[in-house]
Amino acid sequence: MHRSSDAETPLYLQLADRIQSLIKAGTFKPGERIPSVRHLSAQHHVSIPTVLQAYLTLEDRRMIEARPKSGYFVRNHLDDPQRPATRSRRQLQSRSLAQFPPLMSLVHDVANPHLVPMGGAYPSPELLPGAKLARVTSTVARSHTHQIISYDPVPGCPLLREEISRRSIDWGCALSPDDFIITNGATEALHLALSVTTQPGDTVLIESPSYYGVLTILSHLKLRAIAVPACPERGLDLKAAARILQRDRIAAMVLMPNFNNPLGSLMPEANRIELLSLAAKHHLPIIEDDIYGDLQHQGERPAALKSLDKNQQVLLCGSFSKTLAPGYRVGYISAPRYQNKLVQLKTAQNFCSAPLPALTIADFLKNGGYEHHLRALRHAFQVQVRQMREALLAQLPHESRISNPGGGFVLWVELPKQVDTLTLFHQARHAGISIAPGHLFSPAAEFKHHLRISCGHPWDHAMEKAVAQLARMIQHQLR
Ligand SMILES: Cc1ncc(COP(=O)(O)O)c(C=O)c1O
Repeated sequence: MHRSSDAETPLYLQLADRIQSLIKAGTFKPGERIPSVRHLSAQHHVSIPTVLQAYLTLEDRRMIEARPKSGYFVRNHLDDPQRPATRSRRQLQSRSLAQFPPLMSLVHDVANPHLVPMGGAYPSPELLPGAKLARVTSTVARSHTHQIISYDPVPGCPLLREEISRRSIDWGCALSPDDFIITNGATEALHLALSVTTQPGDTVLIESPSYYGVLTILSHLKLRAIAVPACPERGLDLKAAARILQRDRIAAMVLMPNFNNPLGSLMPEANRIELLSLAAKHHLPIIEDDIYGDLQHQGERPAALKSLDKNQQVLLCGSFSKTLAPGYRVGYISAPRYQNKLVQLKTAQNFCSAPLPALTIADFLKNGGYEHHLRALRHAFQVQVRQMREALLAQLPHESRISNPGGGFVLWVELPKQVDTLTLFHQARHAGISIAPGHLFSPAAEFKHHLRISCGHPWDHAMEKAVAQLARMIQHQLR
């Protein structure tokens, strides 16, 4: 393929634009098959993943559709690509990581120290008690020599379950140690929760936008998603959810009532009560992802939805990845009603989580000053979010909208409609800046002019420069 002189436009977008213009010119007509991925790759001397991504982009633009075992076809009713997609009501197959290169790149970039880290939602190691945890690890390794080289009982480290059970009082729950299973991060907890509540082919109700990790788990479990609108102020639109529950057969919901990622929303208590009665009416399990629950910027920790769960419908998932050490991979799930099934599945999957990180976290919770650490961390995130928000407000086009979360450390940014944040993602990465493009957060690839910005790292000159650079790239797209 002749490479355009515009080096900032990725190859797959150049290819997608070219095919789109051929469709618009009538070279490929509605209903007609377009060249196969292999054929186009050979014809244009570009890689197969590049062609695949070009075709995914055209699917997202609703120009073409994939037909199983037949290839890609021009859609019969071409939509105006400017019109926002209205597919949130439809049941969609979630995309896997492998089908979506920007997501893989975002995940890999978390370990890339050369990028300005505004993409992946993880706390800067500077803010975490790494040295203290290392000391605890070495003490624990010496004092529990046999335990750390042995299997833990399947629900996981008893000492850690005790400590988490104590903390659950702060969540308004008072769960017993036997109500927990220790997992490899919240990711495994969500995976277990979805596995025990659904069957392949089922449909799961999620928030729109939703954390992309959930979308990839749905895809791996062969589940479909219905994404229900949510807003940064109150989270899930309950009326819309109620209509869908009335109409569709839904197997489970996955929600983040406390400081949703990416919206930052905190669901009001009245909405939580209504949500639970809706779920009770439809006998629906709710998978609660409470990973940001400890990270309110001010005041009391919000209670978990599980604290209101009279019917044992909530499967509570969490971890210490956002507060202590993502690399320790220590998470948990609490869902007494499903405990037997969860234990069986955890046994089948990996028997138990590693005892050493679990014991270390348990000891830190008991003796390490976790509350003190949390107070400093909450304050740091509050300041970082404010600094980033102010910089974005000052630099981005004035019609942009930026969330104003009361907890967590991500911002959800809506840019003018003409901006394509996937292009921006590639341009920014080329310039050494990591950001998360909006459509990673939707099974229907909506939110094309949205961004999630992580404020997990202390504000510095590099970020200030990066925000100014992003603003220039956006202005360039608007010209
Ligand atoms: C909302 C949400 N849930 C779950 C996870 C995964 O957490 P863990 O690293 O504990 O697996 C993340 C990590 O980014 C997240 O943001």
